[in-house]
Amino acid sequence: MASILVLNGPNLNLLGLREPSTYGTATLADVESICRNTAERLGFSVECQQSNHEGVLIDALHDAGRRVKSGELIGVVFNAGAFTHTSIAIMDAIKGADVPVIEVHISNVHQRESFRHHSYLSAVAAGIVVGFGIDGYRLAIEGLVQQKRCEQ
Ligand code: DQA
Repeated sequence: MASILVLNGPNLNLLGLREPSTYGTATLADVESICRNTAERLGFSVECQQSNHEGVLIDALHDAGRRVKSGELIGVVFNAGAFTHTSIAIMDAIKGADVPVIEVHISNVHQRESFRHHSYLSAVAAGIVVGFGIDGYRLAIEGLVQQKRCEQ
């Protein structure tokens, strides 16, 4: 069974505790369980990884690119947290690894501070889901699977 990597960046380990009026009260474990259920319903397995470190996220994207080429993985659902707005290195990793990435943001970043309006990742993402709360992860998995089916 091919797999989907659900990758979460900095501070998303604090979901449920962190600014609940912005991000809600569900935890990262709740998010991962939604992802697992959604992927299984669609015939895929899910691997979940969270890191607060840019280099670890970059290594995970490189590895994901290799695994997409071998057919093990179909792509990555990625909430890069604040690295979205700062990291040219993560943008380069997505492009360099040639890995399909659906960019997810729980909050509607466009309603927030102006520094959150720009994403380095959107230009290299295969799709973007913004502002649907944690349901965005389900939408992103469905979108990634749909894109994969359209390719075949
Ligand atoms: C976020 C939005 C980012 O601006 C912020 O830094 C996060 C979470 C979101 O899911 O809404 O950490 O990616």
